[in-house]
Amino acid sequence: MPTVPPERTPPLVLVLFGASGDLTARKILPALANLADRGRLAEEFTVIGVARTPWSDEEFRRVAMKDAQYGGERWRKLVERFRYIPGEYAATDTFDRLKGLLAEADERYGTRGNRVYYLATVPSVFAMIADALAKEGCNAPGEGGEFARLVVEKPYGHDLQSALELDAAVHRAFDEDQIFRIDHYMGKETVQNVLALRFANAIFEPVWNRRYVEQVQITVAESIGVEHRGGFYETAGALRDIVQNHVMQVLSLTLMEPPTGMDATHIRDEKVKLLKAVDIPTPDEAVDKSVRGQYTPGVVDGVAVPGYRAEEGVAPDSVTETYVALRLRVENWRWAGVPVYVRTGKRLPTRVTEVALQFHNVPFLAFDGELARQLRPNTLVLRIQPNDGISLHFGAKVPGEEFRVQSVAMDFLYERAFGEDRGTDGYPRLLHDAMCGDATLFIRTDEVEQAWRIVDPYLEAWSEPGGGLHLYRAGTWGPHIADLLLERAGDSWRNPEL
Ligand code: BG6
Repeated sequence: MPTVPPERTPPLVLVLFGASGDLTARKILPALANLADRGRLAEEFTVIGVARTPWSDEEFRRVAMKDAQYGGERWRKLVERFRYIPGEYAATDTFDRLKGLLAEADERYGTRGNRVYYLATVPSVFAMIADALAKEGCNAPGEGGEFARLVVEKPYGHDLQSALELDAAVHRAFDEDQIFRIDHYMGKETVQNVLALRFANAIFEPVWNRRYVEQVQITVAESIGVEHRGGFYETAGALRDIVQNHVMQVLSLTLMEPPTGMDATHIRDEKVKLLKAVDIPTPDEAVDKSVRGQYTPGVVDGVAVPGYRAEEGVAPDSVTETYVALRLRVENWRWAGVPVYVRTGKRLPTRVTEVALQFHNVPFLAFDGELARQLRPNTLVLRIQPNDGISLHFGAKVPGEEFRVQSVAMDFLYERAFGEDRGTDGYPRLLHDAMCGDATLFIRTDEVEQAWRIVDPYLEAWSEPGGGLHLYRAGTWGPHIADLLLERAGDSWRNPEL
């Protein structure tokens, strides 16, 4: 990760597969408009959209203006260049036309043979598109160009086997250093700040280990349901949707060893090493160390909401999980014996993503029993969203004659410290990095593979009788049995609202 990224991308053509889709509209076009308006795109830059929807260039441009609502004058000028190819991803004709438009773009806009292909399609066509690009020679830069890159969205496979197959197929067309796998959590400032907190400060490293940390809790809670994505979610579930990718990214950055450099290779080497230390349970152990749940109707933020099975696109007898809790272990010198509890769910009481490191109690408490009971352990909370920041919870004396101790928090809030509105979702940053060729925040093939190795036994265990589903009311913190998962070890879930 260069300390100062290049101001502008190099000259290039961005080819958006899935240009008429939801992801393009919600994330990619707004991110591009953001980059355009901040002058972060080369002058020699243009976009070609490819999708099955039978749009014209004009229709694509209209959508680009509408969906990237914040785009200003620079964006408007850029959109005038946009071209669109309606076509099947399996048809040679689609790629013939693409080749023609790429050559035309080089000629007209000076994009110099550089290409970034962004796969924002359904995953079932990733391999097909990569293959078709290779057949047309588009997996290499055009004349005089320096690069041809492939940006791939999640989900990358639906289990280890399919991820390996997908990777083999994509690698037949593109080399690993051409592939940029996106996990939008890596674009979040607070996720990147884990690196700054841990490796730019001397006071945390000495306590960042089993001697001081008693347990780690990672929470990715959402108050929303599956919204309009019921059909997709039915094929995924919370483990695939959040744990295999976002949680594994946050976990590896938080617990990995210090890298010797902040570049893509050093950071990703350490992340993979950490993931390789996460225990892989047998299917029986997996049942014992996990809880899966699904929401029923309830009330969230004062509003009555339907249960998962009544959501659009969801089977009325669906057994897909919308909640997961896991008890993981990291088997290395730094973390042996420290439980790592993970939970994620939809329709929980609030939206919060955080990592909490809970420290051991003091070795001897010189206060009387009642006061000791009131003390909560010291906890360092890395709050990823919302109100991103870092809090340290510790005990302080309550003013007064009585000697009462209460937990208080020392808070660092990004917004207060830096004052700016950093309300982007990480996409502009990730898109810019991919176009500039910086792979630090992207997921390498061995990371994807190892993350699947970790979650696969749970998937397997849950498909057996006994790998049961527990219901929870929307607006609660998941099934009660998830509390027991921790209580068995004498622990309890942190209340992120405290
Ligand atoms: C996506 C999942 O990857 O992340 C969604 O597919 C989820 O189901 C989303 O809602 C959460 O992202 P964020 O940035 O809102 O935490």
